[in-house]
Amino acid sequence: MTTTARAHTNIALVKYWGKRDAALMLPQTDSLSLTLDEFYTTTTVNFNQALNEDQFYLDGELVSANKAQKVVKFMDLVRQLSGRTEYAQITSVNNVPMAAGLASSASAFAALAGAAAKDAGLDLSLKDLSRLARRGSGSATRSVYGGLVEWHRGVDDATSFAEPVQEVPDFDIAMLAILVDTSQKKVSSRGGMQLVVETSPYYPAWREVVKRDMVAIKEAIANRDLPTIGHIAQENALRMHALNLAADPGFTYFDGQTILAMQTIDRLREEGLNCYYTMDAGPNVKVIFDPKDQDDLLNALTPLFGAERLVVAKPGPGIEFLTEP
Ligand code: DP6
Repeated sequence: MTTTARAHTNIALVKYWGKRDAALMLPQTDSLSLTLDEFYTTTTVNFNQALNEDQFYLDGELVSANKAQKVVKFMDLVRQLSGRTEYAQITSVNNVPMAAGLASSASAFAALAGAAAKDAGLDLSLKDLSRLARRGSGSATRSVYGGLVEWHRGVDDATSFAEPVQEVPDFDIAMLAILVDTSQKKVSSRGGMQLVVETSPYYPAWREVVKRDMVAIKEAIANRDLPTIGHIAQENALRMHALNLAADPGFTYFDGQTILAMQTIDRLREEGLNCYYTMDAGPNVKVIFDPKDQDDLLNALTPLFGAERLVVAKPGPGIEFLTEP
């Protein structure tokens, strides 16, 4: 049998930045994200008796066993849960408008969880699929669902899963990625968040920040209040990045272009546009905005960053299973 699943990436508005159990991938805090339509991974899995190891093809190329370690470890977990013993052929294709930049482990492990579990004969609910995706990458927990999604930190493996807040947002919201640098990130999110949990003196305050932000952003979502959602997301991102500066050794994902993009969005907002920014484990900036301001936003950003570095995305769907042609 062959099974294909597609999952879209998500961008956190209230960030996940730290684990309390690395083996089970349990997070320190809740988080909340928006799943995007433009960026997704399509993955096909086929358990095959003839193979003597997992074979992972990414965007048409065979990935060496060394680089495929996270995928193989994840497949071991699926074998353990399902009782299957065969190795699998895994074929993943990333749909990202520009090379690299926004390729994400969120869409990758959500799609892999869906395709591998189904092909192994596991009949998982979306909640259990979300728990399984978590074991590949924390942010993948949320990519099982579309729209606005909450990941409950939970107290153990059974209670740490994602749930939709609004699968299809009932107000207008869009995201624009400013791709200031599309090369590989220097500090992985896994390594960065671990260092922060271990050394950043602000970490206890961060836990409290997230608790407050989760309550406030869900209220703002219920009120369809984009300026408040954007404001909370921007402050939350800045506080996450402040943890990094305060770690030992301190580090940052920002480069000069990141700062330019942040200052430009602040200026455009002062001039009346409904726009806010958020950044993740890399220098790219994502702008949360009201789609009615799209033309004005693009007109202002294009001379600074170039049209080819600006990618607009709308809310996207949850995991989809595709039938073979
Ligand atoms: C900054 O999910 O990539 O994007 O769980 O170690 O695989 P692992 O990390 P990952 O971290 C995502 C961090 C973030 C914030 C977020 O998506 O909530």
